[in-house]
Amino acid sequence: GKPATIVVNGKTYTTDAWFNVPPNVLASTSRKLHLQKDHPVAITRQIIESKFPAPTYKTHNNFDPVVSTFENFDSLGFPPDHVGRNRSDTYYINQTTLLRTHTSAHEAELFRAHASDGYLISADVYRRDEVDRSHYPVFHQMEGARVWDRKAVPNGDVVAAIYADLATLPTHNVKVDDPHPPFHATRNPLQAEHHSPAEAEALGAHLKRSLELMVVEIFSRAKAAAAKQDPDYVDEPLRVRWVEAYFPFTSPSWELEVYYAGDWLEVLGCGVTQQHILTDAGVPGQVGWAFGIGLERIAMLLFQIPDIRLFWSQDNRFLSQFTGVSDDLAKLKRFVPFSKYPACYKDVSFWLRSASAAGGNDKAANKHDFHENDVMEIVRNVAGDDVEDVCLVDEFTHPKTGRRSMCYRINYRSLEKTLTHPETNAMHDRVREALVEKLGVELR
Ligand code: PHE
Repeated sequence: GKPATIVVNGKTYTTDAWFNVPPNVLASTSRKLHLQKDHPVAITRQIIESKFPAPTYKTHNNFDPVVSTFENFDSLGFPPDHVGRNRSDTYYINQTTLLRTHTSAHEAELFRAHASDGYLISADVYRRDEVDRSHYPVFHQMEGARVWDRKAVPNGDVVAAIYADLATLPTHNVKVDDPHPPFHATRNPLQAEHHSPAEAEALGAHLKRSLELMVVEIFSRAKAAAAKQDPDYVDEPLRVRWVEAYFPFTSPSWELEVYYAGDWLEVLGCGVTQQHILTDAGVPGQVGWAFGIGLERIAMLLFQIPDIRLFWSQDNRFLSQFTGVSDDLAKLKRFVPFSKYPACYKDVSFWLRSASAAGGNDKAANKHDFHENDVMEIVRNVAGDDVEDVCLVDEFTHPKTGRRSMCYRINYRSLEKTLTHPETNAMHDRVREALVEKLGVELR
């Protein structure tokens, strides 16, 4: 059964029918990897923070992960039917209280407080998602923002003030592709009632340079580490590009991509802050920009960490490799993998519960109410960190009965030991039982 109350960081919350946080996820709320000295997530945070110095930027690294639905979604302009609000995507404590899915949940309160012209927030965030080597239900993000007050800048000229500040930032010589205009009438609109084109352009230019400098810093540190450890390392010039994006709380919006190992890799989302957020926060005279970046993804590139589960490892073969780096970033080294233990693949096939079989007016009876994230979570709850990935290998609808069948392949592999056959079989049996019990599926 579900607990009536739960405790997160010393505070007690009452649950209701919306509660869907498994014990392993709840336990992660106390880990705070971004604050753990010499942990790769904390080191990555420190490197990024070094490019957004005080007093302009104030750091906030201790915000509680429990926020209201209003803070996480409504305050940012997410529509009421946005998929991110579903219980299949988000961990709820009760109907109006959840584990934040992004650090943007704290934007409104910091704009309201206006303790500084800019801020950085690093924190753990929570999402129900797939199981593979780059996804984990808990990860860390950093949010950054910068504002200017129209009335406080010289001559009220916010465009001049933004460019004056931009002129104080260093330049870099990395090739940046930025093929799109600074805003686009339909794809990436100017907030025409609030900003002149010149203002939006100035904000965009300041935002882009600030974030490029951060990415240049990260990749030059990654290269220095690689060159030190690998005499055959060939330096490839960094390539970055800006692509149009969409977020409900910025416009225009962009993603920054980095060319890495033959692919364009998305590293962050950002944009010109929607004016309603500043107005609602009681500072209608301010304009600004914001960004959000996933720290594990950057740390995986920086340290060459191949599997996201490693961040949660308490094994000294992992942790000891980063000793001393928090105090001296020049000591940064790439992760040297310890031997990889063998994989063990097992398949599970099942028929989905049909609408009639589930019966009643239970919402779960809806034919389309199968959520892959439920399968992912069931496997994660049984196997913990001994599961590397879960993927759909076959899907089939019976031509006569219309019943749907799915087959998932589960790769059991520990980072710390070889799993024995009896151990893996026992885990797989428990996964099969839990699928029947929790989802009402029929095993094939
Ligand atoms: N919160 C967004 C995400 O998690 C990132 C973002 C932050 C985008 C701030 C724009 C501005 O995807």
